[in-house]
Amino acid sequence: MGAVSGGGATSRPTGGLVDRYGRVATDLRVSLTDRCNLRCTYCMPAEGLPWAPDDTVLTDAEVVRLVRIGVELLGVREVRFTGGEPLLRRGLEGIVGATAALRTADDVPVRTALTTNGLGLDKRAHALAAAGLGRVNVSLDSLDPQRFAVIARRDRHADVLAGLAAAAAAGLAPVKVNAVLVRGVNDDEAVPLLTWALAHGYHLRFIEQMPLGPHGSWRREDLVTAREILDTLSAAFELVAEPDGARAGAPAETWHVAGHPGATVGVIGSVTRPFCGACDRTRLTADGQVRSCLFARDEDDLRGLLRGGADDDAVADAWRAAMRGKAAGHGIDDPTFLQPARTMSAIGG
Ligand code: 5AD
Ligand code: SF4
Repeated sequence: MGAVSGGGATSRPTGGLVDRYGRVATDLRVSLTDRCNLRCTYCMPAEGLPWAPDDTVLTDAEVVRLVRIGVELLGVREVRFTGGEPLLRRGLEGIVGATAALRTADDVPVRTALTTNGLGLDKRAHALAAAGLGRVNVSLDSLDPQRFAVIARRDRHADVLAGLAAAAAAGLAPVKVNAVLVRGVNDDEAVPLLTWALAHGYHLRFIEQMPLGPHGSWRREDLVTAREILDTLSAAFELVAEPDGARAGAPAETWHVAGHPGATVGVIGSVTRPFCGACDRTRLTADGQVRSCLFARDEDDLRGLLRGGADDDAVADAWRAAMRGKAAGHGIDDPTFLQPARTMSAIGG
């Protein structure tokens, strides 16, 4: 896998999603909707966004077809469903079930995961696990319901906790919790969040806030950095580094917590510790565009190909071509950095 053919006029490219820098994308993120039932300040404006018109959003069958092409023809090994909020997608269980049944070209079952805000997960965790879902990441930024309501602009803290408990009970373990620390709101919660996560057996991941929310809402000087989070945690816990290389393609740098066997805590330093050189991701938006990177400034249309009657090979070729143009890195810390036009919820987290 991973070879790109010589490219003579008559030879059709085969192989995986390889870019000009030799990175191979095997981790597919699929956004199932750009809509969300929360309005996190770092992600969306209070009034929401102009949602993608229904007829531009891929149908369940179109999503499953693209995922199948990714897995069977392009070397995808892991599929994560995101949004917006993927639980808003009625057909989610069916999409997960069809995906979990796929096998890679070398006959390995594909791994599946879901990134969700947890609302409604209490009612669906069991069915999702039964459909073959492997793992979930649930976002929770605060232990305090009022602070949660300030960040998410909705008073739904209890629903998230119920969703988390249901995920664990359904065997979607280890349940991961994503937290974003926002300066002046919850930047004092690193230690309380980890204490709580350890008590519940959840694996906590802090994510540095990225400039992917409402335009103009991100300020470098307000960033709660990975360094700051780690210093705070280290004062309260003994963090034991995982052996060298444990990070691999994963964005999180993870630590064991002394005295808590099996527990890990991670920090995703998207801004200050970019992992672009090891990136193994490819993304599909809910309206059927390939994005080579969260921060890509362009995208390539697969929906038009699907609806125009293209066969699987033609779709796979277009996807390969889209990934070949992937940039070396996001350059957030570069003065020339330009935020992509679409925000996180429209791209898929
Ligand atoms: N920066 C960092 N993380 C973000 N998320 C959403 N928007 C941003 C942003 N601008 C998080 C969500 C969720 C995950 C998919 O990404 O909180 O946990
Ligand atoms: Fe990969 Fe883009 Fe993320 Fe960097 S910013 S790690 S290139 S997806």
